[in-house]
Amino acid sequence: MTNQFENNAIRGPINSWLLKVMSTYMHYKFGDIKNAMFKDHPQTVVEIGSGTGENMRYLRKGTHLIAIEPNVHMHESLEKAAEKYGIHLEIRSLIGEAIDLDDESCEFVVSTLVLCTVKDLEECLQQIKRILKPSGKFVFIEHVKARENSVLGMIQNLIHKPWHWCFEGCHTNRDIQPYIESAGFSDLRVETYNLYSPIVPIIPQIRGVAIK
Ligand SMILES: C[S@@+](CC[C@H](N)C(=O)[O-])C[C@H]1O[C@@H](n2cnc3c(N)ncnc32)[C@H](O)[C@@H]1O
Repeated sequence: MTNQFENNAIRGPINSWLLKVMSTYMHYKFGDIKNAMFKDHPQTVVEIGSGTGENMRYLRKGTHLIAIEPNVHMHESLEKAAEKYGIHLEIRSLIGEAIDLDDESCEFVVSTLVLCTVKDLEECLQQIKRILKPSGKFVFIEHVKARENSVLGMIQNLIHKPWHWCFEGCHTNRDIQPYIESAGFSDLRVETYNLYSPIVPIIPQIRGVAIK
């Protein structure tokens, strides 16, 4: 399957740089909740769309992180973050729709601010479910479509096209929760909330845990 990162010599490095610039702010906004959600993670964690390694600081030193990250412009920063946080990093330059891990081979899969961008969301969720062991956890934090007829929704729709181009396929207004609900997990806990910040299109969010 081809991916949108094969021809991104300009946007790729810019987006990698932006993620690094935003890192302190993201930690300020998400730090507590990520610490709580990733607590008790097993020795091996699979992350879909690791970006520049923002989530490594929430993993225990010595964790084996399998980073499914198709954007090669993120890889150098991933390596640096792994060194900084003492993570055993294994980068797989693949999309989440085509993960090459064995069926039922992992216990803990993470995605943060990624399902907005994957091209085939249904397939990506099926891949996550496939690689999880029975009772394995999929932990997610995602920005989502705002309520119908809301001001936030209007802003998301207005800005969608340029945003989608700049951020390499990110949908401001994707209704992600129904996809997770219909992916066939045995249990699902989802919380809907607004994360107020100047980055208006990503204010409406969901976070939760899906159990295989
Ligand atoms: C907004 S960044 C988020 C990075 C990181 N998870 C974070 O929270 O900072 C989205 C990341 O998802 C990756 N991505 C986009 N489409 C993907 C796909 N189909 N499979 C796996 N990763 C993907 C991008 O390359 C990018 O690194």
